[in-house]
Amino acid sequence: MCGIVGYIGQNQATDILLYGLEKLEYRGYDSAGIALMNDENIHLFKVKGRIEALRERINHRIHATTGIGHTRWATHGAPSGVNAHPHQSPSGRYTLVHNGVIENYQALKRDYLIETVSDTDTEIVVQLVEKLNDTYADTVKAFREAMRLLKGSYAIAMIDSEDPDTLYVAKNKSPLLIGLGDGFNVVASDAMATLQETDQYVEIADGEIVLVQRDRIDIQTLDGTPVQRAPYTAEIDLSDIEKGTYSHFMLKEIDEQPIVMRNIMNAYQNDHDELSLDPAIRSAMTACDRIYIIACGTSYHAGLVGKSLLEKLAHIPVEVHVASEFSYNMPLLSEKPLFIFISQSGETADSRAVLVKVKEMGHHALTITNVPGSTLSREADHTLHLHAGPEIAVASTKAYTAQIAVLAILAVDTANEKGIELDFNPMQELAIVANAMEVLTDQKPTFERLVNAYLPTSRNAFFIGRSADYYVSLEAALKLKEISYIQAEGFAGGELKHGTIALIEDGTPVIALATQKDVNGAIRGNVQEVAARGANTMVISMKGLDEADDAFVLPEVHELLTPLVSVVPMQLIAYYAALYRGCDVDKPRNLAKSVTVE
Ligand code: G6P
Repeated sequence: MCGIVGYIGQNQATDILLYGLEKLEYRGYDSAGIALMNDENIHLFKVKGRIEALRERINHRIHATTGIGHTRWATHGAPSGVNAHPHQSPSGRYTLVHNGVIENYQALKRDYLIETVSDTDTEIVVQLVEKLNDTYADTVKAFREAMRLLKGSYAIAMIDSEDPDTLYVAKNKSPLLIGLGDGFNVVASDAMATLQETDQYVEIADGEIVLVQRDRIDIQTLDGTPVQRAPYTAEIDLSDIEKGTYSHFMLKEIDEQPIVMRNIMNAYQNDHDELSLDPAIRSAMTACDRIYIIACGTSYHAGLVGKSLLEKLAHIPVEVHVASEFSYNMPLLSEKPLFIFISQSGETADSRAVLVKVKEMGHHALTITNVPGSTLSREADHTLHLHAGPEIAVASTKAYTAQIAVLAILAVDTANEKGIELDFNPMQELAIVANAMEVLTDQKPTFERLVNAYLPTSRNAFFIGRSADYYVSLEAALKLKEISYIQAEGFAGGELKHGTIALIEDGTPVIALATQKDVNGAIRGNVQEVAARGANTMVISMKGLDEADDAFVLPEVHELLTPLVSVVPMQLIAYYAALYRGCDVDKPRNLAKSVTVE
Protein backbone atom coordinates (compact mmCIF):
# COMPACT_ATOMS: atom_id res chain seq x y z
CA MET A 1 0.00 0.00 0.00
CA CYS A 2 1.74 3.18 -1.23
CA GLY A 3 5.48 2.96 -1.70
CA ILE A 4 8.18 5.62 -1.61
CA VAL A 5 11.63 5.63 -3.13
CA GLY A 6 14.12 8.50 -3.32
CA TYR A 7 17.68 8.93 -4.58
CA ILE A 8 20.35 11.60 -4.24
CA GLY A 9 23.80 10.95 -5.67
CA GLN A 10 25.83 11.05 -8.85
CA ASN A 11 24.13 8.47 -11.05
CA GLN A 12 21.06 8.71 -13.25
CA ALA A 13 18.15 8.68 -10.80
CA THR A 14 15.45 7.56 -13.27
CA ASP A 15 16.42 3.89 -13.52
CA ILE A 16 17.11 3.59 -9.80
CA LEU A 17 13.69 5.06 -8.98
CA LEU A 18 11.83 2.92 -11.52
CA TYR A 19 13.59 -0.24 -10.33
CA GLY A 20 12.70 0.70 -6.74
CA LEU A 21 9.05 1.29 -7.61
CA GLU A 22 8.90 -2.09 -9.35
CA LYS A 23 10.22 -3.73 -6.20
CA LEU A 24 7.46 -1.96 -4.23
CA GLU A 25 4.73 -3.13 -6.61
CA TYR A 26 3.97 -6.04 -4.27
CA ARG A 27 2.52 -3.56 -1.78
CA GLY A 28 -0.39 -2.91 -4.16
CA TYR A 29 -1.00 0.33 -6.10
CA ASP A 30 -3.20 1.91 -8.72
CA SER A 31 -1.10 4.85 -9.94
CA ALA A 32 2.53 5.90 -9.90
CA GLY A 33 4.75 8.89 -10.42
CA ILE A 34 8.25 10.27 -10.18
CA ALA A 35 9.84 13.71 -9.92
CA LEU A 36 13.33 14.24 -11.32
CA MET A 37 15.41 17.26 -10.40
CA ASN A 38 18.22 18.69 -12.50
CA ASP A 39 19.67 22.11 -11.72
CA GLU A 40 16.59 23.99 -10.62
CA ASN A 41 14.14 22.19 -12.86
CA ILE A 42 11.73 19.58 -11.60
CA HIS A 43 10.28 17.17 -14.15
CA LEU A 44 7.09 15.44 -13.06
CA PHE A 45 5.64 12.26 -14.57
CA LYS A 46 2.45 10.65 -13.21
CA VAL A 47 0.17 7.95 -14.55
CA LYS A 48 -2.87 5.98 -13.52
CA GLY A 49 -2.04 2.28 -13.79
CA ARG A 50 1.17 0.30 -13.89
CA ILE A 51 4.87 1.23 -13.62
CA GLU A 52 5.32 0.08 -17.27
CA ALA A 53 3.04 2.96 -18.30
CA LEU A 54 5.10 5.36 -16.18
CA ARG A 55 8.31 4.08 -17.76
CA GLU A 56 6.88 4.79 -21.21
CA ARG A 57 5.75 8.28 -20.19
CA ILE A 58 9.15 9.40 -18.85
CA ASN A 59 11.51 11.40 -21.01
CA HIS A 60 14.61 9.26 -20.56
CA ARG A 61 16.87 11.99 -21.97
CA ILE A 62 16.49 14.02 -18.77
CA HIS A 63 19.71 13.78 -16.80
CA ALA A 64 18.89 13.94 -13.10
CA THR A 65 20.84 12.71 -10.10
CA THR A 66 18.13 13.49 -7.55
CA GLY A 67 14.53 12.30 -7.55
CA ILE A 68 11.60 10.83 -5.68
CA GLY A 69 9.07 8.19 -6.77
CA HIS A 70 5.77 6.85 -5.49
CA THR A 71 3.21 4.12 -5.99
CA ARG A 72 -0.26 5.15 -4.78
CA TRP A 73 -3.10 2.99 -3.46
CA ALA A 74 -6.05 5.37 -3.47
CA THR A 75 -7.60 6.44 -0.18
CA HIS A 76 -8.52 10.15 -0.62
CA GLY A 77 -9.56 10.65 -4.23
CA ALA A 78 -9.94 8.13 -7.05
CA PRO A 79 -6.94 6.60 -8.85
CA SER A 80 -5.98 9.19 -11.50
CA GLY A 81 -3.01 11.06 -12.92
CA VAL A 82 -4.01 14.20 -10.98
CA ASN A 83 -4.30 12.38 -7.64
CA ALA A 84 -1.10 10.38 -8.21
CA HIS A 85 1.99 11.58 -6.32
CA PRO A 86 4.31 13.52 -6.38
CA HIS A 87 2.30 16.63 -5.55
CA GLN A 88 3.64 20.15 -5.97
CA SER A 89 3.21 23.42 -4.13
CA PRO A 90 1.50 26.20 -6.15
CA SER A 91 4.79 27.90 -7.13
CA GLY A 92 6.27 24.53 -8.14
CA ARG A 93 9.12 24.99 -5.64
CA TYR A 94 8.34 21.98 -3.43
CA THR A 95 7.49 18.47 -4.67
CA LEU A 96 6.45 15.73 -2.27
CA VAL A 97 5.41 12.07 -1.98
CA HIS A 98 3.53 10.65 0.98
CA ASN A 99 2.43 7.29 2.36
CA GLY A 100 -0.21 7.27 5.11
CA VAL A 101 -3.30 9.28 5.98
CA ILE A 102 -3.36 12.91 7.20
CA GLU A 103 -6.34 12.81 9.54
CA ASN A 104 -6.64 16.59 10.02
CA TYR A 105 -6.18 17.57 6.36
CA GLN A 106 -9.59 19.23 6.17
CA ALA A 107 -8.92 21.38 9.22
CA LEU A 108 -5.51 22.38 7.81
CA LYS A 109 -7.08 23.17 4.45
CA ARG A 110 -9.58 25.46 6.15
CA ASP A 111 -7.17 27.10 8.61
CA TYR A 112 -4.47 27.81 6.01
CA LEU A 113 -6.90 28.75 3.20
CA ILE A 114 -5.51 26.08 0.89
CA GLU A 115 -7.00 25.49 -2.58
CA THR A 116 -6.03 22.12 -4.07
CA VAL A 117 -5.98 20.72 -7.59
CA SER A 118 -6.21 17.11 -6.44
CA ASP A 119 -8.58 15.34 -4.03
CA THR A 120 -5.74 14.04 -1.88
CA ASP A 121 -4.81 14.71 1.72
CA THR A 122 -1.16 14.79 0.57
CA GLU A 123 -1.41 17.99 -1.45
CA ILE A 124 -2.27 19.87 1.76
CA VAL A 125 1.14 18.92 3.17
CA VAL A 126 3.19 20.30 0.30
CA GLN A 127 1.13 23.47 0.22
CA LEU A 128 1.53 23.83 3.97
CA VAL A 129 5.33 23.66 3.65
CA GLU A 130 5.23 26.48 1.09
CA LYS A 131 2.92 28.64 3.23
CA LEU A 132 5.12 28.15 6.30
CA ASN A 133 8.21 28.94 4.26
CA ASP A 134 6.59 32.23 3.24
CA THR A 135 6.67 33.04 6.97
CA TYR A 136 10.02 31.54 7.99
CA ALA A 137 12.05 31.84 4.76
CA ASP A 138 13.75 28.61 5.89
CA THR A 139 12.78 25.29 4.31
CA VAL A 140 14.05 23.11 7.16
CA LYS A 141 12.05 25.08 9.68
CA ALA A 142 8.97 25.15 7.42
CA PHE A 143 9.21 21.39 6.86
CA ARG A 144 9.60 20.68 10.58
CA GLU A 145 6.72 22.98 11.51
CA ALA A 146 4.50 21.42 8.85
CA MET A 147 5.20 17.95 10.30
CA ARG A 148 4.31 19.23 13.77
CA LEU A 149 0.91 20.30 12.47
CA LEU A 150 0.07 16.95 10.89
CA LYS A 151 -2.12 14.39 12.67
CA GLY A 152 -2.19 10.84 11.40
CA SER A 153 0.35 8.64 9.68
CA TYR A 154 2.96 9.67 7.18
CA ALA A 155 6.18 8.73 5.49
CA ILE A 156 7.25 11.69 3.39
CA ALA A 157 10.02 12.57 0.94
CA MET A 158 10.24 16.09 -0.49
CA ILE A 159 12.52 17.98 -2.86
CA ASP A 160 13.07 21.72 -3.08
CA SER A 161 13.92 23.16 -6.51
CA GLU A 162 16.05 25.83 -4.82
CA ASP A 163 18.18 23.26 -2.99
CA PRO A 164 19.13 20.38 -5.31
CA ASP A 165 21.41 18.89 -2.65
CA THR A 166 18.82 17.77 -0.09
CA LEU A 167 15.96 15.29 0.21
CA TYR A 168 13.62 16.20 3.06
CA VAL A 169 12.29 13.11 4.78
CA ALA A 170 9.86 12.59 7.68
CA LYS A 171 8.15 9.64 9.31
CA ASN A 172 5.29 8.94 11.69
CA LYS A 173 3.70 5.47 11.92
CA SER A 174 4.29 4.63 8.22
CA PRO A 175 7.43 2.70 7.26
CA LEU A 176 10.48 4.52 5.82
CA LEU A 177 14.21 3.76 5.81
CA ILE A 178 17.36 5.60 4.74
CA GLY A 179 19.87 3.54 2.73
CA LEU A 180 23.51 4.62 2.89
CA GLY A 181 25.85 4.43 -0.10
CA ASP A 182 29.24 5.66 -1.19
CA GLY A 183 28.59 9.09 -2.72
CA PHE A 184 24.82 8.64 -2.68
CA ASN A 185 21.96 7.96 -0.31
CA VAL A 186 18.51 6.50 -0.85
CA VAL A 187 15.13 6.53 0.85
CA ALA A 188 12.62 3.68 0.65
CA SER A 189 9.48 2.27 2.24
CA ASP A 190 11.14 -1.13 2.20
CA ALA A 191 14.83 -2.06 1.88
CA MET A 192 13.83 -4.37 -1.00
CA ALA A 193 13.37 -1.30 -3.23
CA THR A 194 17.00 -0.22 -3.01
CA LEU A 195 18.83 -3.44 -2.21
CA GLN A 196 20.57 -3.24 -5.56
CA GLU A 197 22.20 0.00 -4.38
CA THR A 198 23.07 -0.81 -0.76
CA ASP A 199 22.53 -3.17 2.16
CA GLN A 200 23.29 -0.52 4.82
CA TYR A 201 20.17 1.06 6.33
CA VAL A 202 19.27 3.48 9.08
CA GLU A 203 15.87 3.37 10.77
CA ILE A 204 13.89 6.56 11.26
CA ALA A 205 11.78 6.75 14.42
CA ASP A 206 8.28 8.21 14.49
CA GLY A 207 8.37 11.98 14.88
CA GLU A 208 11.78 12.46 13.27
CA ILE A 209 12.82 14.31 10.13
CA VAL A 210 15.95 13.57 8.11
CA LEU A 211 17.88 15.85 5.76
CA VAL A 212 19.42 13.46 3.27
CA GLN A 213 22.36 14.62 1.14
CA ARG A 214 24.56 12.58 -1.16
CA ASP A 215 27.34 12.20 1.44
CA ARG A 216 25.59 12.71 4.80
CA ILE A 217 22.32 12.37 6.64
CA ASP A 218 21.11 14.60 9.44
CA ILE A 219 18.42 13.07 11.65
CA GLN A 220 16.55 15.38 14.02
CA THR A 221 13.47 15.37 16.19
CA LEU A 222 10.60 17.72 15.43
CA ASP A 223 12.05 20.26 17.86
CA GLY A 224 15.38 20.21 16.01
CA THR A 225 17.40 18.06 18.46
CA PRO A 226 20.04 16.05 16.51
CA VAL A 227 19.77 12.24 16.69
CA GLN A 228 22.62 9.77 16.15
CA ARG A 229 21.73 6.27 14.96
CA ALA A 230 24.00 3.50 13.73
CA PRO A 231 23.19 1.72 10.45
CA TYR A 232 22.37 -1.98 10.23
CA THR A 233 22.89 -4.50 7.45
CA ALA A 234 19.70 -5.61 5.71
CA GLU A 235 19.84 -9.38 5.65
CA ILE A 236 17.81 -9.95 2.53
CA ASP A 237 19.31 -11.82 -0.35
CA LEU A 238 18.61 -10.17 -3.71
CA SER A 239 17.60 -13.60 -5.07
CA ASP A 240 14.84 -13.77 -2.41
CA ILE A 241 13.09 -10.90 -4.11
CA GLU A 242 13.53 -12.09 -7.71
CA LYS A 243 11.20 -14.55 -9.43
CA GLY A 244 14.06 -16.56 -10.93
CA THR A 245 12.64 -19.19 -13.29
CA TYR A 246 9.10 -18.88 -11.89
CA SER A 247 6.36 -17.13 -13.82
CA HIS A 248 4.83 -15.79 -10.59
CA PHE A 249 6.02 -15.03 -7.09
CA MET A 250 2.96 -16.82 -5.71
CA LEU A 251 4.03 -20.14 -7.22
CA LYS A 252 7.61 -19.63 -6.00
CA GLU A 253 6.34 -18.88 -2.51
CA ILE A 254 4.04 -21.93 -2.48
CA ASP A 255 7.06 -24.04 -3.43
CA GLU A 256 9.21 -22.46 -0.71
CA GLN A 257 6.95 -23.74 2.09
CA PRO A 258 8.93 -26.93 2.86
CA ILE A 259 12.13 -24.85 3.16
CA VAL A 260 10.34 -22.38 5.42
CA MET A 261 9.24 -25.24 7.70
CA ARG A 262 12.87 -26.36 7.96
CA ASN A 263 14.07 -22.78 8.60
CA ILE A 264 11.59 -22.49 11.46
CA MET A 265 12.73 -25.80 12.92
CA ASN A 266 16.35 -24.59 12.86
CA ALA A 267 15.50 -21.22 14.31
CA TYR A 268 13.54 -22.53 17.29
CA GLN A 269 15.75 -25.44 18.30
CA ASN A 270 19.09 -25.36 20.15
CA ASP A 271 22.10 -27.67 19.68
CA HIS A 272 20.59 -30.16 22.17
CA ASP A 273 17.40 -30.48 20.07
CA GLU A 274 15.43 -28.57 22.70
CA LEU A 275 12.98 -25.81 21.89
CA SER A 276 14.64 -22.44 22.32
CA LEU A 277 12.38 -19.46 22.86
CA ASP A 278 13.01 -16.12 24.52
CA PRO A 279 12.54 -16.69 28.32
CA ALA A 280 10.50 -13.47 28.50
CA ILE A 281 7.99 -14.97 26.05
CA ARG A 282 7.82 -18.12 28.18
CA SER A 283 7.04 -16.04 31.26
CA ALA A 284 4.37 -14.05 29.43
CA MET A 285 2.73 -17.25 28.13
CA THR A 286 2.68 -19.00 31.50
CA ALA A 287 1.54 -15.88 33.41
CA CYS A 288 -1.56 -15.14 31.32
CA ASP A 289 -5.03 -16.53 31.97
CA ARG A 290 -6.33 -15.94 28.41
CA ILE A 291 -4.83 -15.19 25.02
CA TYR A 292 -6.36 -12.71 22.59
CA ILE A 293 -5.14 -13.25 19.04
CA ILE A 294 -5.55 -10.14 16.88
CA ALA A 295 -5.02 -10.25 13.12
CA CYS A 296 -6.48 -9.54 9.66
CA GLY A 297 -7.03 -11.54 6.47
CA THR A 298 -4.92 -14.64 6.07
CA SER A 299 -3.17 -13.99 9.38
CA TYR A 300 -6.56 -14.11 11.09
CA HIS A 301 -7.14 -17.53 9.52
CA ALA A 302 -3.77 -18.71 10.86
CA GLY A 303 -4.88 -17.38 14.26
CA LEU A 304 -7.95 -19.65 14.19
CA VAL A 305 -5.71 -22.70 13.74
CA GLY A 306 -3.43 -21.27 16.44
CA LYS A 307 -6.36 -21.17 18.85
CA SER A 308 -6.86 -24.94 18.52
CA LEU A 309 -3.15 -25.58 18.97
CA LEU A 310 -2.80 -23.37 22.04
CA GLU A 311 -5.95 -24.67 23.68
CA LYS A 312 -5.26 -28.35 22.96
CA LEU A 313 -1.53 -28.32 23.72
CA ALA A 314 -0.96 -25.52 26.24
CA HIS A 315 -4.42 -25.56 27.86
CA ILE A 316 -4.86 -21.78 27.64
CA PRO A 317 -8.24 -20.35 26.56
CA VAL A 318 -7.87 -18.33 23.37
CA GLU A 319 -10.08 -15.80 21.60
CA VAL A 320 -9.33 -14.84 18.00
CA HIS A 321 -10.45 -11.41 16.79
CA VAL A 322 -10.44 -9.52 13.52
CA ALA A 323 -8.38 -6.42 14.39
CA SER A 324 -10.71 -3.85 12.81
CA GLU A 325 -13.65 -5.17 14.85
CA PHE A 326 -11.78 -5.54 18.12
CA SER A 327 -10.69 -1.91 17.97
CA TYR A 328 -14.20 -0.56 18.24
CA ASN A 329 -16.00 -3.41 19.98
CA MET A 330 -13.65 -4.67 22.66
CA PRO A 331 -14.90 -7.70 24.59
CA LEU A 332 -14.72 -7.96 28.35
CA LEU A 333 -11.10 -8.91 29.01
CA SER A 334 -9.87 -11.52 31.45
CA GLU A 335 -7.78 -10.55 34.47
CA LYS A 336 -4.40 -11.41 32.97
CA PRO A 337 -4.72 -11.20 29.21
CA LEU A 338 -1.87 -11.68 26.75
CA PHE A 339 -2.27 -10.23 23.27
CA ILE A 340 -0.75 -12.02 20.29
CA PHE A 341 -0.61 -10.01 17.08
CA ILE A 342 -0.15 -12.10 13.94
CA SER A 343 0.95 -10.11 10.91
CA GLN A 344 3.06 -11.08 7.93
CA SER A 345 4.10 -7.48 7.24
CA GLY A 346 4.05 -6.21 10.81
CA GLU A 347 2.61 -2.97 9.42
CA THR A 348 -1.15 -3.57 9.23
CA ALA A 349 -2.84 -0.42 10.54
CA ASP A 350 -5.92 -2.21 11.90
CA SER A 351 -3.75 -4.49 14.06
CA ARG A 352 -1.55 -1.60 15.13
CA ALA A 353 -4.57 0.38 16.29
CA VAL A 354 -5.39 -2.47 18.70
CA LEU A 355 -1.77 -2.77 19.82
CA VAL A 356 -1.62 0.94 20.69
CA LYS A 357 -4.87 0.64 22.66
CA VAL A 358 -3.92 -2.45 24.65
CA LYS A 359 -0.45 -1.07 25.41
CA GLU A 360 -2.12 2.07 26.76
CA MET A 361 -4.20 -0.23 28.98
CA GLY A 362 -0.95 -1.74 30.27
CA HIS A 363 -1.30 -5.21 28.73
CA HIS A 364 1.46 -7.45 27.43
CA ALA A 365 1.80 -8.03 23.67
CA LEU A 366 3.66 -10.50 21.49
CA THR A 367 3.94 -10.01 17.73
CA ILE A 368 4.39 -12.94 15.35
CA THR A 369 5.69 -11.45 12.10
CA ASN A 370 7.81 -12.03 9.04
CA VAL A 371 9.46 -8.60 9.39
CA PRO A 372 11.35 -8.28 12.69
CA GLY A 373 12.00 -4.49 12.50
CA SER A 374 8.40 -3.73 11.56
CA THR A 375 6.13 -1.40 13.52
CA LEU A 376 4.17 -4.17 15.26
CA SER A 377 7.41 -5.88 16.19
CA ARG A 378 8.99 -2.73 17.60
CA GLU A 379 5.93 -1.69 19.55
CA ALA A 380 5.07 -5.05 21.15
CA ASP A 381 6.95 -6.42 24.18
CA HIS A 382 8.13 -9.52 22.34
CA THR A 383 8.51 -10.83 18.78
CA LEU A 384 8.54 -14.27 17.24
CA HIS A 385 9.98 -14.24 13.72
CA LEU A 386 8.45 -16.33 10.93
CA HIS A 387 11.70 -16.92 9.00
CA ALA A 388 9.68 -17.21 5.78
CA GLY A 389 11.81 -14.83 3.69
CA PRO A 390 10.22 -11.91 1.82
CA GLU A 391 6.68 -12.67 0.65
CA ILE A 392 6.06 -10.65 -2.51
CA ALA A 393 2.81 -12.00 -4.00
CA VAL A 394 -0.13 -10.11 -2.53
CA ALA A 395 -1.94 -13.35 -1.70
CA SER A 396 -0.21 -14.78 1.34
CA THR A 397 0.87 -18.43 1.23
CA LYS A 398 4.16 -19.26 2.94
CA ALA A 399 3.53 -16.70 5.69
CA TYR A 400 0.26 -18.51 6.58
CA THR A 401 1.94 -21.89 7.01
CA ALA A 402 4.89 -20.27 8.82
CA GLN A 403 2.48 -18.58 11.25
CA ILE A 404 0.82 -21.92 12.06
CA ALA A 405 4.18 -23.67 12.50
CA VAL A 406 5.45 -20.96 14.87
CA LEU A 407 2.19 -21.07 16.83
CA ALA A 408 2.56 -24.86 17.16
CA ILE A 409 6.07 -24.43 18.54
CA LEU A 410 4.88 -21.72 20.92
CA ALA A 411 2.05 -23.98 22.13
CA VAL A 412 4.36 -26.94 22.77
CA ASP A 413 6.97 -24.75 24.46
CA THR A 414 4.30 -23.35 26.79
CA ALA A 415 3.03 -26.86 27.53
CA ASN A 416 6.59 -27.89 28.44
CA GLU A 417 6.94 -24.87 30.72
CA LYS A 418 3.66 -25.73 32.42
CA GLY A 419 4.70 -29.35 32.87
CA ILE A 420 1.94 -30.69 30.60
CA GLU A 421 2.82 -34.17 29.27
CA LEU A 422 2.46 -34.27 25.49
CA ASP A 423 2.59 -37.10 23.02
CA PHE A 424 3.61 -34.67 20.28
CA ASN A 425 7.14 -33.80 19.16
CA PRO A 426 6.76 -30.60 17.13
CA MET A 427 10.10 -30.85 15.31
CA GLN A 428 9.49 -34.44 14.22
CA GLU A 429 5.96 -33.58 13.12
CA LEU A 430 7.06 -30.45 11.24
CA ALA A 431 9.70 -32.50 9.42
CA ILE A 432 6.92 -34.86 8.28
CA VAL A 433 4.87 -31.82 7.22
CA ALA A 434 7.79 -30.42 5.18
CA ASN A 435 8.08 -33.71 3.28
CA ALA A 436 4.33 -33.85 2.72
CA MET A 437 4.36 -30.29 1.37
CA GLU A 438 7.05 -31.33 -1.12
CA VAL A 439 4.94 -34.28 -2.27
CA LEU A 440 2.09 -31.83 -2.91
CA THR A 441 4.06 -29.13 -4.69
CA ASP A 442 5.45 -31.86 -6.98
CA GLN A 443 1.92 -32.64 -8.15
CA LYS A 444 1.01 -29.31 -9.75
CA PRO A 445 -0.46 -30.86 -12.93
CA THR A 446 -3.00 -32.73 -10.79
CA PHE A 447 -4.28 -29.50 -9.26
CA GLU A 448 -4.34 -27.81 -12.64
CA ARG A 449 -6.51 -30.72 -13.86
CA LEU A 450 -8.81 -30.41 -10.83
CA VAL A 451 -9.31 -26.73 -11.59
CA ASN A 452 -10.24 -27.55 -15.18
CA ALA A 453 -12.70 -30.21 -13.98
CA TYR A 454 -14.35 -28.29 -11.15
CA LEU A 455 -13.86 -24.55 -11.63
CA PRO A 456 -13.51 -23.74 -15.31
CA THR A 457 -16.13 -21.05 -15.77
CA SER A 458 -17.85 -20.98 -12.38
CA ARG A 459 -19.13 -17.70 -10.98
CA ASN A 460 -18.93 -19.03 -7.44
CA ALA A 461 -17.48 -21.83 -5.31
CA PHE A 462 -17.92 -23.18 -1.80
CA PHE A 463 -15.32 -24.69 0.48
CA ILE A 464 -16.58 -26.74 3.41
CA GLY A 465 -14.95 -28.43 6.35
CA ARG A 466 -15.40 -29.08 10.05
CA SER A 467 -13.10 -28.10 12.94
CA ALA A 468 -9.55 -27.55 11.59
CA ASP A 469 -10.83 -28.12 8.04
CA TYR A 470 -13.36 -25.33 8.49
CA TYR A 471 -10.54 -22.90 9.29
CA VAL A 472 -8.67 -23.99 6.16
CA SER A 473 -11.90 -23.65 4.13
CA LEU A 474 -12.01 -19.98 5.11
CA GLU A 475 -8.45 -19.52 3.89
CA ALA A 476 -9.12 -21.53 0.71
CA ALA A 477 -12.08 -19.30 -0.15
CA LEU A 478 -10.08 -16.14 0.56
CA LYS A 479 -7.24 -17.33 -1.70
CA LEU A 480 -9.62 -18.11 -4.55
CA LYS A 481 -11.52 -14.83 -4.40
CA GLU A 482 -8.39 -12.71 -3.91
CA ILE A 483 -6.70 -13.80 -7.12
CA SER A 484 -9.32 -15.36 -9.44
CA TYR A 485 -12.26 -13.05 -8.48
CA ILE A 486 -14.55 -16.10 -8.27
CA GLN A 487 -17.03 -15.42 -5.50
CA ALA A 488 -16.05 -18.03 -2.91
CA GLU A 489 -17.18 -18.78 0.62
CA GLY A 490 -15.75 -21.02 3.31
CA PHE A 491 -18.35 -22.74 5.47
CA ALA A 492 -18.55 -24.96 8.48
CA GLY A 493 -19.98 -28.13 6.90
CA GLY A 494 -22.86 -28.36 9.37
CA GLU A 495 -23.83 -24.69 8.98
CA LEU A 496 -24.33 -24.85 5.21
CA LYS A 497 -27.82 -26.32 5.52
CA HIS A 498 -28.93 -23.39 7.70
CA GLY A 499 -29.34 -21.03 4.78
CA THR A 500 -26.51 -21.07 2.30
CA ILE A 501 -27.51 -24.43 0.80
CA ALA A 502 -30.19 -22.39 -1.01
CA LEU A 503 -27.41 -21.21 -3.33
CA ILE A 504 -26.50 -24.72 -4.48
CA GLU A 505 -27.71 -25.48 -7.98
CA ASP A 506 -26.67 -27.71 -10.85
CA GLY A 507 -22.91 -27.61 -11.25
CA THR A 508 -22.09 -25.37 -8.24
CA PRO A 509 -18.54 -26.31 -7.22
CA VAL A 510 -18.29 -27.50 -3.60
CA ILE A 511 -14.84 -28.49 -2.38
CA ALA A 512 -14.79 -30.39 0.91
CA LEU A 513 -11.83 -31.04 3.17
CA ALA A 514 -11.84 -34.24 5.21
CA THR A 515 -8.70 -34.57 7.32
CA GLN A 516 -10.19 -34.97 10.82
CA LYS A 517 -11.22 -38.44 12.06
CA ASP A 518 -13.91 -37.20 14.46
CA VAL A 519 -15.88 -35.36 11.82
CA ASN A 520 -15.04 -37.43 8.75
CA GLY A 521 -18.48 -39.05 8.60
CA ALA A 522 -20.26 -35.78 9.24
CA ILE A 523 -18.48 -33.83 6.51
CA ARG A 524 -19.09 -36.63 4.01
CA GLY A 525 -22.78 -36.39 4.95
CA ASN A 526 -22.65 -32.67 4.09
CA VAL A 527 -21.07 -33.52 0.74
CA GLN A 528 -23.99 -35.87 0.02
CA GLU A 529 -26.48 -33.14 0.91
CA VAL A 530 -25.08 -30.73 -1.66
CA ALA A 531 -24.45 -33.45 -4.27
CA ALA A 532 -28.13 -34.39 -4.01
CA ARG A 533 -28.93 -30.79 -5.00
CA GLY A 534 -26.72 -30.82 -8.09
CA ALA A 535 -23.38 -29.59 -6.71
CA ASN A 536 -20.20 -30.58 -8.48
CA THR A 537 -18.39 -31.94 -5.41
CA MET A 538 -14.73 -32.65 -4.79
CA VAL A 539 -13.36 -34.19 -1.58
CA ILE A 540 -9.75 -33.68 -0.55
CA SER A 541 -9.03 -36.02 2.32
CA MET A 542 -6.25 -37.30 4.52
CA LYS A 543 -4.84 -40.76 3.93
CA GLY A 544 -6.82 -43.43 5.75
CA LEU A 545 -10.19 -41.63 5.80
CA ASP A 546 -12.46 -43.62 3.35
CA GLU A 547 -10.59 -42.14 0.46
CA ALA A 548 -11.83 -44.44 -2.32
CA ASP A 549 -13.78 -41.87 -4.35
CA ASP A 550 -11.93 -38.78 -3.27
CA ALA A 551 -10.50 -36.36 -5.82
CA PHE A 552 -7.21 -36.12 -3.98
CA VAL A 553 -5.66 -37.81 -0.94
CA LEU A 554 -3.15 -35.88 1.15
CA PRO A 555 -0.03 -37.50 2.59
CA GLU A 556 -0.57 -38.28 6.26
CA VAL A 557 0.60 -35.83 8.92
CA HIS A 558 -0.27 -35.38 12.61
CA GLU A 559 -3.94 -34.47 12.98
CA LEU A 560 -3.09 -31.22 14.77
CA LEU A 561 -1.02 -30.03 11.81
CA THR A 562 -3.27 -30.97 8.88
CA PRO A 563 -3.91 -27.29 7.99
CA LEU A 564 -0.25 -27.00 7.02
CA VAL A 565 -0.70 -29.55 4.23
CA SER A 566 -4.39 -29.29 3.34
CA VAL A 567 -3.93 -25.60 2.49
CA VAL A 568 -1.32 -26.36 -0.19
CA PRO A 569 -3.81 -27.84 -2.73
CA MET A 570 -6.09 -24.91 -1.95
CA GLN A 571 -3.33 -22.43 -2.75
CA LEU A 572 -2.53 -24.27 -5.99
CA ILE A 573 -6.21 -24.49 -6.97
CA ALA A 574 -6.55 -20.72 -6.48
CA TYR A 575 -3.36 -20.16 -8.47
CA TYR A 576 -4.45 -22.25 -11.47
CA ALA A 577 -7.99 -20.84 -11.40
CA ALA A 578 -6.53 -17.30 -11.58
CA LEU A 579 -4.15 -18.33 -14.34
CA TYR A 580 -6.98 -19.97 -16.30
CA ARG A 581 -8.94 -16.71 -16.13
CA GLY A 582 -5.98 -14.59 -17.19
CA CYS A 583 -5.85 -12.70 -13.87
CA ASP A 584 -2.82 -10.85 -12.57
CA VAL A 585 -1.87 -13.52 -10.00
CA ASP A 586 0.74 -11.58 -8.03
CA LYS A 587 -0.97 -8.19 -8.11
CA PRO A 588 -4.72 -8.74 -7.88
CA ARG A 589 -6.99 -5.77 -8.46
CA ASN A 590 -7.87 -3.48 -5.54
CA LEU A 591 -5.65 -5.34 -3.05
CA ALA A 592 -2.56 -4.22 -1.19
CA LYS A 593 -0.01 -6.43 0.50
CA SER A 594 0.70 -4.13 3.36
CA VAL A 595 -2.45 -2.28 4.45
CA THR A 596 -1.22 0.78 6.28
CA VAL A 597 -4.58 2.58 6.56
CA GLU A 598 -7.41 1.64 8.94
C1 G6P B 1 -3.88 -7.54 3.34
C2 G6P B 1 -3.33 -8.62 2.44
C3 G6P B 1 -3.68 -9.99 2.99
C4 G6P B 1 -3.18 -10.12 4.43
C5 G6P B 1 -3.76 -9.00 5.31
C6 G6P B 1 -3.09 -8.96 6.68
O1 G6P B 1 -5.26 -7.50 3.25
O2 G6P B 1 -3.82 -8.47 1.13
O3 G6P B 1 -3.04 -10.98 2.19
O4 G6P B 1 -3.54 -11.35 4.94
O5 G6P B 1 -3.49 -7.73 4.70
O6 G6P B 1 -1.74 -8.60 6.53
P1 G6P B 1 -0.62 -8.89 7.59
O7 G6P B 1 0.63 -8.32 6.99
O8 G6P B 1 -1.03 -8.15 8.85
O9 G6P B 1 -0.54 -10.34 7.80
